[in-house]
Amino acid sequence: MTTLPFLVEPGTLASLHSATDTSGAPVLRTAGGASYSVVRDVPIFVNFDTESDAEPDVQHRAAEFEQMYRSLKEPWKYSGRMAEVLRHEFVATLAPEICPEPSWVLDLGCSVGQLSALLGKHFPRIASLDVSATAVWKAQEYCKTVANDGKATEFAFVVGSATELPFAAESFSLVVASDGLFGWELSESAQQQVVSEIVRVLKPGGAAIFTDYLGHKKFDRLLRLIDESPLRRERVEYLHDRLWYQMESWFHLVQESAVAKAILRNRPLALGLRRVAELWGAGASKHICVVARKQV
Ligand SMILES: C[S@@+](CC[C@H](N)C(=O)[O-])C[C@H]1O[C@@H](n2cnc3c(N)ncnc32)[C@H](O)[C@@H]1O
Repeated sequence: MTTLPFLVEPGTLASLHSATDTSGAPVLRTAGGASYSVVRDVPIFVNFDTESDAEPDVQHRAAEFEQMYRSLKEPWKYSGRMAEVLRHEFVATLAPEICPEPSWVLDLGCSVGQLSALLGKHFPRIASLDVSATAVWKAQEYCKTVANDGKATEFAFVVGSATELPFAAESFSLVVASDGLFGWELSESAQQQVVSEIVRVLKPGGAAIFTDYLGHKKFDRLLRLIDESPLRRERVEYLHDRLWYQMESWFHLVQESAVAKAILRNRPLALGLRRVAELWGAGASKHICVVARKQV
């Protein structure tokens, strides 16, 4: 297991030390006696008990996301949907351009690990966090199995919420929040809290990449959230994927058929639709991607 040197208790930011509980299971403890379990080498900072009154909004969503991952193998079926594969590749290619010399990179809302694994091809150390423990364990397995061109990437996994990150200030040179702020079903104040947390854990001069599925009429929502934060917006990209999603909607009723599956994972077709959509600009994008930087 890679132990993150900068793990702290979410909220209080108290330091943590490794210990064992009465049954001999590993835990992380604060000096004040708070204890967090470590299951399959993954520290767990989320309580899935919906009766708990800690952060009720996020708590409730965490339980829902966890349930989704327990009942479905891959909730958003990203690996079978070429627009999503291209989105992951887009982010993983953009990341080293905007952050050439990273220390640790944080993949927020890592799901089952496809983007973390791709980032691991470009960066030596990846920390992946999701609010669902089942998602994180799946990501851990996935990142173990993907070939990484002989690179010895260090992966570390954490179960936590982006609204209260369990990391010390200035720990990361790059934070990726890919589908993302508007996919997490948070209130506007919780979204602002996430952006503040990203600013806190970024090193001065570090960058954040945000992507969200919004459609061009709502792109300003993400831009506003970033512009109202201390981050400085550096770049805005459109993924020109609207035609692909339009095509996907035609297959909605027969999405499990072999023909539909083959079409939805067809790379040349997705690239062709993207090329046509590029002629229309932002209006032909469902996804926006924003790069923003913390000032030195
Ligand atoms: C739409 S998926 C996106 C996954 C991945 N980032 C990608 O780009 O393919 C959203 C993920 O965020 C996770 N999530 C939801 N709320 C979260 C929160 N408050 N903090 C961290 N992760 C969260 C969900 O469990 C889910 O795995």
